[in-house]
Amino acid sequence: MAILPPATIGILGGGQLGRMTALAARSLGYGIQVLDPDPNCSARPIVDRVVAAQFDDAHAAAVLARECDVITIEIEQIAPSALHAASEYAPVRPGANVLHVVQDRGRQKEWLAAQGMPIGPYAFVDSVADLQRAARTLGPSLFVKACHGGYDGRSQIRLDATSHLDAAFASLGSRQAVAEQGLSLALELSVLVARRVSGETIVYPPAVNHHEQQILAWSVLPGELPPDVVRKAKQMALDIAHALELEGILAVEMFLLQNGHLLVNELAPRPHNSFHATELACPTSQFEQLVRAVCDLPLGSVEPTRSAAIVNLIGDLWADGRVPDFASALKVPGTRLFLYGKTGARAGRKMGHLAAIGTSAGEALESARLAAARL
Ligand SMILES: Nc1ncnc2c1ncn2[C@@H]1O[C@H](COP(=O)(O)OP(=O)(O)OP(=O)(O)O)[C@@H](O)[C@H]1O
Ligand SMILES: [Mg+2]
Repeated sequence: MAILPPATIGILGGGQLGRMTALAARSLGYGIQVLDPDPNCSARPIVDRVVAAQFDDAHAAAVLARECDVITIEIEQIAPSALHAASEYAPVRPGANVLHVVQDRGRQKEWLAAQGMPIGPYAFVDSVADLQRAARTLGPSLFVKACHGGYDGRSQIRLDATSHLDAAFASLGSRQAVAEQGLSLALELSVLVARRVSGETIVYPPAVNHHEQQILAWSVLPGELPPDVVRKAKQMALDIAHALELEGILAVEMFLLQNGHLLVNELAPRPHNSFHATELACPTSQFEQLVRAVCDLPLGSVEPTRSAAIVNLIGDLWADGRVPDFASALKVPGTRLFLYGKTGARAGRKMGHLAAIGTSAGEALESARLAAARL
């Protein structure tokens, strides 16, 4: 049954994804509350209430949910106890079943393999001996990723033939990890799929993404890709959403290998950095789509009406207290600036993004990069 405005949506997490979801929810006339460890989180200026608590605080999750009609997430790392406590008061979408699959990288890979999804060669690593074995069988180029926690390349390391494996395993905290074979990528793409409680499902065309130092640097939508890659990628995302009985939105990160194979990298059942361009390219942004999906409203149109690109603004731009030249960047026609309202620009921290439109992916990206270079 549809949850209509002015009902209240609760979000577990109040970072930039929560902030932009809150803005979309506001436009639709919903109330909005978030739970976040930081009372001054990015979403703070947009929401009716911040419940300041850790993501494993079951009591606080219940306190949030008591005043909400539906609960969603902007970060996967929410403790099962907190999800359960919230679900006593309001439906949690996506549900604990989805988070159970994605929260542990190893479990996620096993689940994807069991669904028949193509993934790269990997091995579980619990010790230095395991890592040595993985380096022999899958290496020398390896990406070792802790099973729990980690985003933007944190909790993962890249190894080659010269790496010291004991030091590498120790630097991950000697935790359980997966060692993935380093793959020869032609490019990276992602697909966003939305599914509502009633079962209605819709899929955006793939975005093409470029990472630097394991952090997303830029993304274009729709990505320029061979039609058979687009078809396969969309079908994979739809199949995953159905198998998970998703309620909400899910980004599927994929690798297109130099040999033409298309593999799933990882799943994110929430708004995704690589779909920020939906705000400019599509009739329905990913944030509005999330609101529609979790409130069981008809899903919005996704076919791009033009191309758009985003360039991430990382904390390094603010080094030594300098203020980036936003005015100069905004002189580039067709650009928009999104800042996340974060205080404390640390190196590697996502502070905002610049977006631009164009008649082609290339043109949109050129404008976004030109604007970013002026900062
Ligand atoms: N097995 C691999 N082979 C080649 N490149 C890889 C591999 N694994 C990861 N990468 C590179 O590192 C990036 C980040 O990896 P991954 O998506 O696993 O980490 P993450 O910390 O979850 O990042 P994010 O939060 O940005 O999604 C990938 O997008 C890709 O550029
Ligand atoms: Mg990733």
